[in-house]
Amino acid sequence: MLDKRNELNAWDRDHFFHPSTHMGTHARGETPTRVIAGAEGVYITDTNGKKSLDAFAGLYCVNVGYGRQKIADAIAEQAKNLAYYHAYVGHGTEASITLSKMIIDRAPEGMSRVYFGLSGSDANETNIKLIWYYNNILGRPEKKKIISRWRGYHGSGVMTGSLTGLELFHNAFDLPRAPILHTEAPYFFRRPDRLMDEEQFAQYCADKLEEMILAEGPETVAAFIGEPILGTGGIVPPPKTYWRKIQAVLDKYDVLLVADEVISGFGRLGTMFGSDHYGMKPDLITIAKGLTSAYAPLSGSIVSDKMWRVLVQGSDQLGAIGHGWTYSAHPICAAAGIANLELIDELGIVENAGATGAYFRSELAKAIGDHKHVGEVRGDGLMAAIEFVEDRDDRAFFDPARKIGPQVAAALLERGVIGRAMPQGDILGFAPPLCLTRDEADIVVKAAAGAIESVFSKL
Ligand SMILES: Cc1ncc(COP(=O)(O)O)c(C=O)c1O
Repeated sequence: MLDKRNELNAWDRDHFFHPSTHMGTHARGETPTRVIAGAEGVYITDTNGKKSLDAFAGLYCVNVGYGRQKIADAIAEQAKNLAYYHAYVGHGTEASITLSKMIIDRAPEGMSRVYFGLSGSDANETNIKLIWYYNNILGRPEKKKIISRWRGYHGSGVMTGSLTGLELFHNAFDLPRAPILHTEAPYFFRRPDRLMDEEQFAQYCADKLEEMILAEGPETVAAFIGEPILGTGGIVPPPKTYWRKIQAVLDKYDVLLVADEVISGFGRLGTMFGSDHYGMKPDLITIAKGLTSAYAPLSGSIVSDKMWRVLVQGSDQLGAIGHGWTYSAHPICAAAGIANLELIDELGIVENAGATGAYFRSELAKAIGDHKHVGEVRGDGLMAAIEFVEDRDDRAFFDPARKIGPQVAAALLERGVIGRAMPQGDILGFAPPLCLTRDEADIVVKAAAGAIESVFSKL
């Protein structure tokens, strides 16, 4: 086993190009390789036998937890019976058709069709193309700009990386590209004027959006995209009236709304969709992660009735839509999706996310909320973040070079719990599997308190 482990480490450093990884330190062996060997429930185990409670559910995606036999069996059965057939020119499989129906049954009102992809990124690429197509068919070819938000995360492709509003994903990639613009993030803790209350800040964000639309010309602005709750940008719930105010601006200028529910879809906020949770009225919804709980790669663009009617006119004018992926609606992934959605219902996963999420966040706030370097404990459903500050009174942030967030995440891991140092700011994020129990939540809270104490006692 030791030989095999050494061999894997060497192959990894020499041949594996990892996503979101420091290429130099990894290849030179300056940072550890962790090879994951197995997982069960909320725990993963590596090849050294070290077990960790995965309080980030992989990348906020293993929502029903690891090791679910029902999903594994559905995948195996589908692979044996029909491993693949494409979905072009009207082809379907029982799995892909059934899953479409199950998604629309669970989706917010007014949704009509699902276009399947494999990742959140490709689903958002689809969304951009559908928005452009829609406006061309409506005879308004100049209405093409898409407004995203700073700190939004919508993928890593050329256009979706442009939608993403995080520097790390733009630097040296020549992004963002036109016609994508970014407006204010609804990040109350980091509001520019600390005298603003939550309501004033929500209004400020809506005013900024309106100013941008007017400056660009409403006839050029096609859509606005946002995660119901900011994810990778820092796990930031919106101010209470934010979405209502944003929706009013979008309606006024006939701007479509894309709700990127890659994280929030299928239960993470204690409701099936974040759009319902915050009262959003999207024209398109992006889904991925929780659709299969990451047992197989599958994403989707859920298209509203309003857009679908125009897309159909497009085919009547131009013929078949020129947009397709070989693996769209892959039957193995669809079978995983069906089993996963059934399991979510059978286990009451959505309700658990709401109830255990509230417990987890309140225990976290009790344990560390008063720490002098904790600026804020926030979240919603089973998403939580702790933001660290040098000085609470002045809201002074640490110099990013000190890497406080990564240090706390490393100290947490030493205590057997995985959290995520979010990429922009000293923010420790949690998004555990939605089957988390209260006992498991207690373990996470205790480890977080210990990690914070150990890092800050050395400063
Ligand atoms: C809100 C959101 N949208 C899109 C994506 C991109 O998904 P993928 O990594 O599957 O391309 C992510 C990934 O974390 C996400 O959080």
